[in-house]
Amino acid sequence: MGKLWKLWVLLLMIGIGLVAWNVSRQADQERIVYDDEQKGLQKQIIIYFSHVVAENTPKGLAAQKFAELVEQKTNGRVKVEVFANGSLYSDGEELDALLRGDVQMIAPSFSKVTELIPEWQVLDLPFLFRDDDDVRRVFTGKVGAELLGMLEEKGIKGLAFWSNGFKQMMGTTRPLIEPDDFRGLRFRIMPSEVIDKQFRLLGGEPVAVSFDHVYRALEQHEFDGQENTISNIYSKGFYKFQPYITISNHGYLGYAVMMNRSFWDSLPKEIQQKIAEAMTEATQWNLRQSKAQNERELQQLKQQKSVQLYLLSEEERKRWEQKFAPLYKEFTRQFGSRMLNEIKGFRE
Ligand code: SIN
Repeated sequence: MGKLWKLWVLLLMIGIGLVAWNVSRQADQERIVYDDEQKGLQKQIIIYFSHVVAENTPKGLAAQKFAELVEQKTNGRVKVEVFANGSLYSDGEELDALLRGDVQMIAPSFSKVTELIPEWQVLDLPFLFRDDDDVRRVFTGKVGAELLGMLEEKGIKGLAFWSNGFKQMMGTTRPLIEPDDFRGLRFRIMPSEVIDKQFRLLGGEPVAVSFDHVYRALEQHEFDGQENTISNIYSKGFYKFQPYITISNHGYLGYAVMMNRSFWDSLPKEIQQKIAEAMTEATQWNLRQSKAQNERELQQLKQQKSVQLYLLSEEERKRWEQKFAPLYKEFTRQFGSRMLNEIKGFRE
């Protein structure tokens, strides 16, 4: 009887042990699914946002800001994963990746959109914008909305325009001040018909090269010059190879922030609204931040002993404008003058 009693007690303890282990295992499983980091994971929406510039540039920083705002506004339901420096796709590949749905968001420069929609060439025309106010009015006004709208039929949701800044001219061995200074030189450009013609009108030889190859190409002395913004010149160290920088403000580098349209359409309405709100805030932030960053980094470049900065005078600028006049004629011949008049109209 004594032995039987002991056996019952042992079996009872094993039984209690098994129940306790099972309860704790279930709790562990629940913790795996619902702990703080993983809460709602099954319902989480992930957006891959690929871009080609450094993290500490106007586009890189705006992408981070947008990601933070989206996460805040959706309480973590939507997570934007930003891939900088072309680590996912180069600028020559990212548009196709977006259209295939391999990434959900990109922000290519205008020039890179012109291959898909030629009307976007308007934004590459030299001396189109006088100052940052002009830029803001066009980006947020009727022409901006019309250009973004053209993306729809290509399977793209155009979300906003972001700014980098005005482009400056850079030379490897000499300053580029008079139109004749460009004659016979080889220039790295973004893929864009307008930019290609701009350098040809100056007697130069333009070659389109994707952004991620520029540093290597400069190291190997493949180019005599290029155009870019102060923030790209500074963040990528281009000034080490092309130290003659003419502050010409002749063109504008801005971005079309876009999402794969089927992905956008698949999002619940309230999520679309939160993303749109985050985009509006990130865009306003980017407009202020990009201007300040370019100004700050221009001061940093002034500290570099090797860098020779030259500010283009009004007269010199007029001589460039005369050289570029055929670009406006050509644009008007192809697309009419309505859009150009609207852009210039608000200045009167
Ligand atoms: C970028 O800012 O996205 C790239 C600009 C360039 O290709 O020069």
